[in-house]
Amino acid sequence: MSFYGAPDGRRVTLRDLSEATRRGEKWPMITAYDALTAAIFDEAGIPAILVGDSAAMVVYGHDSTLPVTVDELLPLVRAVVRGAPRALVVADLPFGSYQASTAQALETAARFMKEGGAHAVKLEGGAPMLPQVETLASAGVPVIGHLGLTPQSVNMLGGYRVQGRGEAGEFLLRDAKAMEAAGASAIVLEVVPADLAARVSEVLTIPTIGIGAGSATDAQVIVWQDLVGLTGGPAPRFVKRYADVRTVISDAVGQWGEDVRTGTYPSSEHEYA
Ligand code: KIV
Repeated sequence: MSFYGAPDGRRVTLRDLSEATRRGEKWPMITAYDALTAAIFDEAGIPAILVGDSAAMVVYGHDSTLPVTVDELLPLVRAVVRGAPRALVVADLPFGSYQASTAQALETAARFMKEGGAHAVKLEGGAPMLPQVETLASAGVPVIGHLGLTPQSVNMLGGYRVQGRGEAGEFLLRDAKAMEAAGASAIVLEVVPADLAARVSEVLTIPTIGIGAGSATDAQVIVWQDLVGLTGGPAPRFVKRYADVRTVISDAVGQWGEDVRTGTYPSSEHEYA
């Protein structure tokens, strides 16, 4: 059984995923930031892994995605590529590493591909980023656009809120078409009305990858810690918790701490003669 069209032993490509979309097959993409979880997701049959700039929050503990740097993301990309032998690995271009010019975008993307081993990159933003998309695509870098709620622009957007309602939806649709024409291989649509995401998905031939964008997109992406309930506090509406890993870890570590305190761990079965 081939893995999203990729023969056994070959890594999935964006072309494989585009063809899956053309066949009407929906596909999942998940974030990862280390080799161990990347291996688990790869073994679980997830064909695409995003090393998101969400690492700023879930790995580095910042309260937004803005502070993370290329030098901080690169080792995570390397680790994920090592851990996941089958999945396409997409590196997120962090804030400030591509907006200044097409040359800056190409230089950053090249670092993620040469030094990190990434197979594609993702960048945020609409019309102003078209030259960057065009430059990357013509240099042979598969590039994924990201429209709607673009967390790197949180200060401009005034918070993490739904984008593309009303007339703004027409601009988003126009930007999505322009991204495709500029050479984008896929587009992430984050926290936009479901009917807008459906319209964009209908009009584009490249895959749309939704997060908080309803069920009509061609693919879905999620931050893995949200999916398994590792992140604390209330989750956004679009998150479905498939597990409560935070409680599992907390109970296990709490029990171990108690066993150490009471001397029940280690016991003779954990000793060496
Ligand atoms: O950084 C990230 O994890 C992302 C996804 C949420 C799409 O951009």
